[in-house]
Amino acid sequence: MSLLFTPAKIGNLEIPNRILRSATAELMASNLDGKPREQLKSLWVALAKGGTGLIITGHMYVHPSGKCHPEMAGIYSDELIPSLKGCVDAVHEAGGKIAVQINHGGMQCDPRAVNGTIAPSAIEDDFLDQPAREMSTDEIEMLVDAYGQAARRVKEAGFDGVQIHAAHGYLVNQFISPYTNKRTDKWGGDLQGRTRFFREVTRSVREQVGAEYPVFVKFGMEDGLEGGLTAEEGAEVISMMAEMGLDGLEISGGIEANNVRKGIRNPSREAYFRPLVQLAREKTDLPLIMVGGMRSKGVMEEVLSSGDADFIALCRPLINEPNFPNLMKAGEQETSGCISSSNCWTEVMGEGISCKCPPLKV
Ligand SMILES: Cc1cc2nc3c(=O)[nH]c(=O)nc-3n(C[C@H](O)[C@H](O)[C@H](O)COP(=O)(O)O)c2cc1C
Repeated sequence: MSLLFTPAKIGNLEIPNRILRSATAELMASNLDGKPREQLKSLWVALAKGGTGLIITGHMYVHPSGKCHPEMAGIYSDELIPSLKGCVDAVHEAGGKIAVQINHGGMQCDPRAVNGTIAPSAIEDDFLDQPAREMSTDEIEMLVDAYGQAARRVKEAGFDGVQIHAAHGYLVNQFISPYTNKRTDKWGGDLQGRTRFFREVTRSVREQVGAEYPVFVKFGMEDGLEGGLTAEEGAEVISMMAEMGLDGLEISGGIEANNVRKGIRNPSREAYFRPLVQLAREKTDLPLIMVGGMRSKGVMEEVLSSGDADFIALCRPLINEPNFPNLMKAGEQETSGCISSSNCWTEVMGEGISCKCPPLKV
């Protein structure tokens, strides 16, 4: 029996196998109010039927000021709960499990999605579409609460868990990073100060969902730019996580760490965050999720059996083929057909993400 298809837990959440769908912005919500379109429900049902153990939704915005891009799904208002509940019910009927990734884009919000951007400190940088304004302490406290309220809605809609997005240069990552957080008040400074927003967000989430509900994080362990969060500091943050009340963590890279790498076409290119995951393993006993270029059953099994990670998360392979977990289980496919050229996004409103790469030549 392949270890990939054995059950395991994140907190109280029992997951039937080790394959997670890593959060993937689907671009399948109304651009007006972030409500899921039918298309989004169908995609989640297809993933459930395809054998994914736990689907993590694309990031959902906890407040209108944090909408990252057009057609992002929202979790900022109670009015969104009934339509989300309809999606959750459909996934459960299909035998699947589903958690929501909650997020605020901060400085990285697309100008088409927000009226000006906010960040821990004022930032004007080449990689941003527009300069970001420094947040007031009132705004910080308001958003800490917004994350908690978002998590409450996740639970009320019937989802199986919640993931806090603390990676990829979005707001939580921006607070933790010394590159983007230059504050001199209690929300900045040393690692305790820079992690305060993350710790407060987690506390607020926990307060709303209670001690038993699964809460985990996607963490950008290093930023990959000079003056940003280093892997060593990232490891220190990880050693705080169990005490913070988190049930598990997925390891990714931060601001410029190139978290979506191209050209993963042989096993030596796979598992590109493995050194970070190994460092994380030294710091925590919490369940660890490895994401980033996982493509072949052999590599996934080897990662699990080495003990480096407890779960494997896939993004692009499941855009390419939502049925990939079942195909691996049945022994019909050993390697994803994804060629990792990242042609998944679309600029065409209403289309949603899809695989537009040519098929893998074997
Ligand atoms: C189309 C697309 C959308 C993504 N959306 C998100 C997201 O909403 N939240 C997130 O944490 N990561 C997001 N990512 C990053 C993936 O979750 C994952 O970390 C990365 O693609 C590496 O995994 P892979 O090699 O299996 O694709 C996205 C990636 C792609 C290609």
